Amino acid sequence: MESPVYILAEWNEPHSAALKWALEKNKIPVAIAPDFSGLASRFTAQVDNAGVSFRMTTALHEENRARSVWFRRPAEPQPSHCLDADKQFVQRQWTYFQKNLFHLNDSIIPALWANRPGAAIAAESKLLQLQIAHALDMNIPELVVTNHAADVRRIIKKYGKVIFKTFHPHSWQSASNGNIYDIGVALLDADSELPEESIAVCPGIFQRYIEKAFDIRVTVIGQHMFAVRILKQSGDAYLDWRQHVLGKEAVMAAVQLPSEWEAKIRALMNRLGIVIGCVDLVVDGDGNMFFLEINQAGQFLFVEEKLPDVPLLRAMTAMLASGRHDYSLTDSLDVRFPDYKSSDAYERVMESYADSPLIVSLEE
Ligand SMILES: Nc1ncnc2c1ncn2[C@@H]1O[C@H](COP(=O)(O)OP(=O)(O)OP(=O)(O)O)[C@@H](O)[C@H]1O
Ligand SMILES: [Mg+2]
Repeated sequence: MESPVYILAEWNEPHSAALKWALEKNKIPVAIAPDFSGLASRFTAQVDNAGVSFRMTTALHEENRARSVWFRRPAEPQPSHCLDADKQFVQRQWTYFQKNLFHLNDSIIPALWANRPGAAIAAESKLLQLQIAHALDMNIPELVVTNHAADVRRIIKKYGKVIFKTFHPHSWQSASNGNIYDIGVALLDADSELPEESIAVCPGIFQRYIEKAFDIRVTVIGQHMFAVRILKQSGDAYLDWRQHVLGKEAVMAAVQLPSEWEAKIRALMNRLGIVIGCVDLVVDGDGNMFFLEINQAGQFLFVEEKLPDVPLLRAMTAMLASGRHDYSLTDSLDVRFPDYKSSDAYERVMESYADSPLIVSLEE
C-alpha cells in the first residue's frame, strides 16, 4: 500500500477535510486524527541499546512509514472504551504519550512534518516571532504587551492611535439571544477610557496603529510563497479584514512581494523551524511595509475561495504528497477548491456544523 499522509486534527476541521479530499483525488491514503485512544490501533515506543524506536499499527498501515504529517490542530485523545470513572486517568495517559511522541517527530516517523510540533508550539509565541523579526531587520510597528495602564497611555501619547489585540481569539454565547460573539481588535486614542484596575485584570497587546493602504496576507507552503493584497471595494483598508474577507465588499489580488521581504520571511520561517505559515503584513500610504505576525496554523483556503487561480490547495497537496518542502506543483493533480466545494465530502463537513450557533462580530 502507498505510504499515507497523517493529518492531526478533527475529521471535520475545514482545511484538513479539504486536504483529505485533494490527497485522495491523487490516490494517496490519508488518516485524519489517527485514533490514539481507540481499540483499533496499537502503538509501541521502545527504548533499548539502539535508542528510541516506534511502531504503530493502524487501519492504514503497519509500520511507521508516512509521506508527511500535518500537525494541523491535534485534538486531545478521547478514550471511549473505558469506565466513566477511569476516563480522566486514561485520557491523561494518552495525552502525555501523544505529547512524548510529538516531540520526537521525524526521528520516530521519518517524514516531512508540517510543522514539527516543538517548533509549531514555539512559533505560536508572538513575542518570539517579533524578537526574530526584529533581528532580521523587519519593520515592526512599536507595541507593548501589558496589563499596566500607564504603559498603554504612554504608547497612545506617542502615536495618537493604538490598536488593541488579544493573544488568543475568544468568543462567548449570549444568555439572552443565544448568539455567539467574537472578540475583534479595537482602536484606542487619547479619548479612550483606560481604568487602571480594568487594564490590570488582563494583559493585552497594544500596538501603534498604522494608517493602512491595504493588508497583505502571505501564505508560505514550503518553497512556494503566495502573497495577496486585501482591501475594500471603496479602496480603503479594513480595520480588521478577518470577518469580512469573503464578503462582496472585499477585494483581493495576487501581488509580488519585494525580494528583500521574501528573503526575510524565508529567514523567519527557517529560524522558527517551520515550513508552513501565514504572514500578516500591512502597507501604509507611503508604501512602507510592516510585519504584524505569522500564524503557523493559519487559514489559507479563503484566499483560493476568493481567487480561484491562486493554487493553495494544490500547493499544500503537492507538499504533503511529495513529503518535501521543495516540492513542485506538478506533484499533485490540478485540485481546486471550487471542485472540493461541490463535493459530497464538503457537504458532510458542512452538515456537521449545521447546529453551530451563528458567530456575530462585535464590530458589525
Ligand atoms: N498595528 C496595526 N495597525 C493597523 N492595523 C492593524 C495593526 N495590527 C493589526 N491590525 C489589523 O487587525 C487585523 C488583525 O491583525 P493581526 O493578525 O495582527 O491580529 P491578531 O489578533 O494577532 O490576529 P490572529 O488571530 O491572526 O493571531 C488585521 O486586519 C490587521 O490589519
Ligand atoms: Mg493575523
